[in-house]
Amino acid sequence: MGKFWNIVGLLIVFIAMYIAYTSRDTFDPESIRGKRVIVTGASTGIGEKVAYQYAKLGANILVTARRENRLKQVVKKCLDLGAQSAHYISLDMQVIDETGELITEAEKTLGGLDYLVLNHALYNVELWDGDIEGLQALMNINFFSYANLATKALPMLSKSNGSIAVVSSFAGLVTIPSMTTYSASKHALNGFFEGFRLELNYKNINVSITLLLLGVVTTDHAIELIQDREMFAKYGDPDEAATCIMKATSSKQTWAYYPWVAARIPEIIHTISRDLCDVMMRLKN
Ligand SMILES: *[C@@H]1O[C@H](CO)[C@@H](O)[C@H](O)[C@H]1NC(C)=O
Ligand SMILES: *[C@@H]1O[C@H](CO)[C@@H](O)[C@H](O)[C@H]1NC(C)=O
Repeated sequence: MGKFWNIVGLLIVFIAMYIAYTSRDTFDPESIRGKRVIVTGASTGIGEKVAYQYAKLGANILVTARRENRLKQVVKKCLDLGAQSAHYISLDMQVIDETGELITEAEKTLGGLDYLVLNHALYNVELWDGDIEGLQALMNINFFSYANLATKALPMLSKSNGSIAVVSSFAGLVTIPSMTTYSASKHALNGFFEGFRLELNYKNINVSITLLLLGVVTTDHAIELIQDREMFAKYGDPDEAATCIMKATSSKQTWAYYPWVAARIPEIIHTISRDLCDVMMRLKN
């Protein structure tokens, strides 16, 4: 019995050390000044907030999304907040052949790249209805464009010892009904970028990749989709999510979670939760 409690005690100490280690703050705000940053999906939501976080610390910023009028406003606010420079290019991430223009634009306007923040996504809440073309479009936006942009940006990023932030989701680990297609695209992101990161390591290419697993964050879009406002108290805040993305990326973490409990716990109980979902569906019938 004594042995058992010794083991439990040791486990608790290890877990506490692990949490302390992974949550330590090594971020140096000065390290962002003058850095060249791309943020995708920056016309609204978390992407917009990420652009402002970098702007406040004096970065050079290139934002992209589809809506030009929104991007103009974001660029203006970035400059007001203290960005050394701010530019935009309006692109549709569904058209894979065009996504590379973002990297060409970065070469032209920024002259290189330190941070590539991939954040754009098509987020829908609906049951799978068999629309394969819709799924292909969603995969283009949520997955293929990410792979293409990361690949095309790699030469610039390896020159600068740069970093890639991949904004993913707890839906890349577990799924629930109505998130089938979104979840599939996030699973693809997690699998691809985990492998890509290991391969860069293997090839001694000094470009870090940070996978950000976000839980539900109260962006305007999320509030629109999930009508139940009462529930929002326990969800994440877009500004805090943006800070987490910037800090985790600049300190070259491999995985980061926000809100920590909502995003990390599903991973810890990954296998159990998968079975649990099945059980719940069975109970419902
Ligand atoms: C990248 O890292 C290497 C190794 O630490 C260093 O020699 C080189 O100067 C760095 N390059 C830049 C642009 O920071
Ligand atoms: C990788 O780049 C960082 C700067 O971002 C540098 O501190 C580090 O020494 C580099 N590591 C290697 C192995 O070149």
